[in-house]
Amino acid sequence: MSKFNSQQNIGDIVAEFPKAGEVFKEYKIDFCCGGNRPLSDAIEKQNLNETEVLDKVNKLYETFANTMDTNWREANLDEFVDHIVNKHHGYLWKEMPEIGQLTTLILKVHGLHHPELSKVHKLFHTVKMDLEGHLTKEETLQYPAIRKFIESKSKEDLDEAVRIIKELEDEHTEAGNILKDLRAVTNDYEIPEDVCGTFVNTYQKLQEMESDLFEHIHLENNILFPRLFALQESMSYKTSN
Ligand SMILES: [Fe+2]
Ligand SMILES: [Fe+2]
Repeated sequence: MSKFNSQQNIGDIVAEFPKAGEVFKEYKIDFCCGGNRPLSDAIEKQNLNETEVLDKVNKLYETFANTMDTNWREANLDEFVDHIVNKHHGYLWKEMPEIGQLTTLILKVHGLHHPELSKVHKLFHTVKMDLEGHLTKEETLQYPAIRKFIESKSKEDLDEAVRIIKELEDEHTEAGNILKDLRAVTNDYEIPEDVCGTFVNTYQKLQEMESDLFEHIHLENNILFPRLFALQESMSYKTSN
């Protein structure tokens, strides 16, 4: 029997089997901000072949089931937060300034013949600025509250970690939308014939950032936040009983 079916939520599939995200990326199925809906929804909306998509995910699962990454649904919360900060925040803090310089450089060199580059420049700098504020909010407010809760096990600390989730989710959606706009204005990062290596490098880096951010948002929206909500619910249940 196949492991996954189209009635499962997209985010749940990727939470259980992270490599499924590769197939969803290939079919442009949004699994981070749009992860909280059944796979059949996306398939229908995007007019995709359900058997083909599911076959790919299930075959990949058969191949990689034994070599799966950490199960973040069950890992220690502090280890999980460390992973997000070290891998994904670290990546963005390091790469965004360089990508910013690159988008400025290709605008100067190729902007005259490729007017889409001024949109790329503006969209990238907008998402960079938004993400710098967002990462800071998580690193100075939410993640410390989670760490404090791990130590104290107090409901107040957990409530503090949950308090800004809606705001963080809205910021994820906004960043996801800008990445979609970047994809649209670059015609899926199509490389024109008359450009230099820096142009190619910039588009590659933008796509790497998109991939990393999708994985990052998926971990927060579909695993971290639901885990915090579930803990909050079980604590409220305990206090009321
Ligand atoms: Fe984050
Ligand atoms: Fe985030």
